[in-house]
Amino acid sequence: NLTEAEELFAKTLDDANRKKLQKITNQDALIKIANAISICTPDAVFINTGSEEDVEWIRQYSLTKGEEKKLAKDRHTIHFDLPQDQARLVSQTYYIINEGEKMSSLAKSVLRTEAIDYVKQFMPGIMKGMTMIVGFYSRGPVGAEAAIPAIEISSSGYVLHSAELLYRNCFSDFDAEAGRTGLFYTNLHSEGKNRPEDVPNARIFMDRSWMTTFSTFCTYAGNTLLLKKGNHRFTVDYATYYKLEEQLSEHMFITGMTGPNGRKTFFAGAAPSGCGKTTTAMAGTDFVGDDLAQFWIDSDGILRAINPEKGIFGIVEDVNREGDPYLMDCLRGDGTEVIWSNVLVKDGVPYWVGNGEEAPKRGVNFQGEWFQGKTDEAGNPVPMSHKNSRCTLLASAIANHATELAEDPAGVPVKVITYSGRDADTMPPVWVARNADDGVVIGASIVSKATATEVGATGVRRQPWANAPFIPGALADYMQAQFTFFNSSKFSEKTRPIMAGLNYFLTHENRGSEGSGLLGEKKDVKVWLGWLELFAHGDVEAIETPVGFLPRYDDLVTLFRTIDKDYPKPLYDMQFALYVDKILERIELQKEAYSKEADIPARLFDIYGRQKKE
Ligand code: PGA
Ligand code: MN
Ligand code: MN
Repeated sequence: NLTEAEELFAKTLDDANRKKLQKITNQDALIKIANAISICTPDAVFINTGSEEDVEWIRQYSLTKGEEKKLAKDRHTIHFDLPQDQARLVSQTYYIINEGEKMSSLAKSVLRTEAIDYVKQFMPGIMKGMTMIVGFYSRGPVGAEAAIPAIEISSSGYVLHSAELLYRNCFSDFDAEAGRTGLFYTNLHSEGKNRPEDVPNARIFMDRSWMTTFSTFCTYAGNTLLLKKGNHRFTVDYATYYKLEEQLSEHMFITGMTGPNGRKTFFAGAAPSGCGKTTTAMAGTDFVGDDLAQFWIDSDGILRAINPEKGIFGIVEDVNREGDPYLMDCLRGDGTEVIWSNVLVKDGVPYWVGNGEEAPKRGVNFQGEWFQGKTDEAGNPVPMSHKNSRCTLLASAIANHATELAEDPAGVPVKVITYSGRDADTMPPVWVARNADDGVVIGASIVSKATATEVGATGVRRQPWANAPFIPGALADYMQAQFTFFNSSKFSEKTRPIMAGLNYFLTHENRGSEGSGLLGEKKDVKVWLGWLELFAHGDVEAIETPVGFLPRYDDLVTLFRTIDKDYPKPLYDMQFALYVDKILERIELQKEAYSKEADIPARLFDIYGRQKKE
């Protein structure tokens, strides 16, 4: 209770931090912080108000603990995660459920009793000898319809330092925001002693009834920065079960494209981790967000979106001048603070695979000393940087970031929704659904090659809405929420978004061409988005097919000219020919998988059936 909480604060917090915490009056929040202290027993507690002084304290704490090291550039630091902890620990991530509760078949669950046993075994005293840091953040611009506040509690300076770059500190607005929304999320993390032998005991537990996430014995931000995917899972739940037809919570970038006469058109697009969301977002003229989007429909029937984040936790492999010029300016420039993770460091300079620069002969990476030609026990070459090595920085540092819009609680008006994955052999680079139902089915049908963002992932997998790993409830309920939302009568014919598929990963090999590798280049994304921008406003005609509308060759030629490229007709034919056998095979695979899932709306099977017939 509150009295006990206050007694505990008096014992563990020094005067300065107790004084800071007195600004928070939300009783539930105070009790949750007290509970965290009594379980984890840190030596001290630091309350982060987000002031420059407090953030500087966090930076120093992280450096002193050795979680981050300074690099040659001012405000650049490197953090290494343990070799076993380089990506999301999917097999160690669980929803806590009560007996008899429904769950998506794509998520893992653990009974409450088992989770409690884990907490009792591993969490008491986990922060001994360390300082617990408590930060208050808003997932979205403060005051936005779909913004929800959260508390991040961690013994890691790296985690709180990252949170400061990625989320909006709302210490002074926390009480008001928690009051307005009627809820807040609580996140508790500790890396413990940060030893490799503890990683098998690492767990990420999400408790939907308490809206609390625990994470232990790991540091990789996808596992520990719980405001990100941890809390995203809660907002997906919230949208599906409490805000049906009102809100959606998606794994999507948000970006604007400038059309004829300066017209701005905003896009939001889903793709699994490691499939180009960040690049796509930055290819727009008005970049808003690269990973998550919260949607609602306003009183004018306009779809609006906010980015719950204010920063980027981006994959750096293959980031280079050619494909990601603005991000490269930040990474190689002096203008902004960057936390690097799991890249190679040589003389205080970070290097990574695919950066388009000359690679150093040796250096240090997350496995220790590295040199060109290094091989592992099996004789395979060890790359200089991990495939999932990352950079953390403010989105506003990117040259084309639309900072004012991104910070507007009114959100941005979204006209185009896209879905994509790593699909080497079936769907064309871009196609548009004929109606909302078909659009929902594009999202339901995303497949993607596994990427380095999940530990141990292999093969080609279904990735419904690219949100599959983050859907806590029944997949059927999430799907129904999509059908309901995109068919909402709040949209008018003019405001209803168009819904499209994108695919950057078709290969020469799969199109019977002599060449090898990808059929397109990273920068072609500007053409696909540019065409969608025109199509969304009825400025170009399209070819109608059973899977949807495809672009005409001539319109693409014109758009390729704007990025100084020719667009040969044979390439168009390879990219846009519909491989009917492949598509039918894909439909069968989806039908079969969904028929194993409980209560899937019949509408999905009707649409697959109709596409097959046509
Ligand atoms: P991303 O997010 O992989 O979607 O970029 C980080 C993570 O969840 O690990
Ligand atoms: Mn992502
Ligand atoms: Mn990402």
